[in-house]
Amino acid sequence: MSLLEADHLFKVFGKHPDDAVERLRSGAGREELREDGATAAVVDACFEVGEGEIFVIMGLSGSGKSTLLRMLNGLAEPTAGRVLFDGQELTALNGRELRSVRSHRISMVFQHFALFPHRTVLENAGYGLEQQGVDRGERDRRAAEALELVGLGEWKDSWPDELSGGMQQRVGLARALATDADLLLMDESFSALDPLIRREMQEQLLQLQQQLRKSIVFITHDLNEAMRLGDRIAVMRDGRIVQQGTPAEIVLAPADDYVAAFVEDVDRDRVLGRAAVRPGGPGADRGAAGEVPQQAPRDAAAGGKAVNRG
Ligand SMILES: Nc1ncnc2c1ncn2[C@@H]1O[C@H](COP(=O)(O)OP(=O)(O)OP(=O)(O)O)[C@@H](O)[C@H]1O
Ligand SMILES: [Mg+2]
Repeated sequence: MSLLEADHLFKVFGKHPDDAVERLRSGAGREELREDGATAAVVDACFEVGEGEIFVIMGLSGSGKSTLLRMLNGLAEPTAGRVLFDGQELTALNGRELRSVRSHRISMVFQHFALFPHRTVLENAGYGLEQQGVDRGERDRRAAEALELVGLGEWKDSWPDELSGGMQQRVGLARALATDADLLLMDESFSALDPLIRREMQEQLLQLQQQLRKSIVFITHDLNEAMRLGDRIAVMRDGRIVQQGTPAEIVLAPADDYVAAFVEDVDRDRVLGRAAVRPGGPGADRGAAGEVPQQAPRDAAAGGKAVNRG
């Protein structure tokens, strides 16, 4: 069973949201509604996220990604549709129940993670647990564990301003991990980092994921990041999800010109290598004798790793 399900979610800001939903259902576009003073931020979003899956939502600025994410933990109320979390309808919970789900089971990591300057790294990492009412001893123990996981074990007694931007972002991740939430919502969490550090964070997230098997919804406008991290990707345009699928499915069969334009610059070999498929044949079994792409490293031909030149 999937841990999270978005069931025909709509979010309209501005005038007459319910009328706007009806019109969107019958095919009206964003522009049309805007003329009447309504912004269709999210239009009829449907998807499921399985346990242990990284689901990436990708799209240009303004396409509705953050609004969609905020509906997934109840920070924004859908204009129509439902969010089901672990079989429970989030949209039907009262304020107290919702806060409890948010503090125990769903954790959010933002783009600019605000750390408290007058608290140590350990105290910052334990903040989510503090919100849950966990006592000091256990909080410190679990926060220290989470800091170990993200490679900051040595830094727990430091102050935030002694850390680089990448390290601060890691503290944000540790804070989310310490709560032991089942679902992590990550909104452009690595976008403010410079490219090298960003790559490191992506690798680290993938490594952690092998161990922790969380369900993660990860938002990005960077296609390579989406391809690297996503088990599946949803591409948003003007509030609508125009395609969802595995990285390979999206690269090999873009649903429309918009998606095609997006994937034009992607490192195809890397994406298809990861999915163990290559152009010109199924090629799922790289260990088998037969044609091997010319540029493949030798160990691929010898039955080693899938091609990964990313
Ligand atoms: N609180 C709000 N009130 C009115 N309009 C809003 C509100 N929040 C978002 N919008 C509008 O909804 C649309 C989607 O915004 P959203 O922030 O979800 O996009 P995004 O894909 O996250 O963009 P970005 O990549 O820039 O973060 C935009 O047109 C935005 O102006
Ligand atoms: Mg956003």
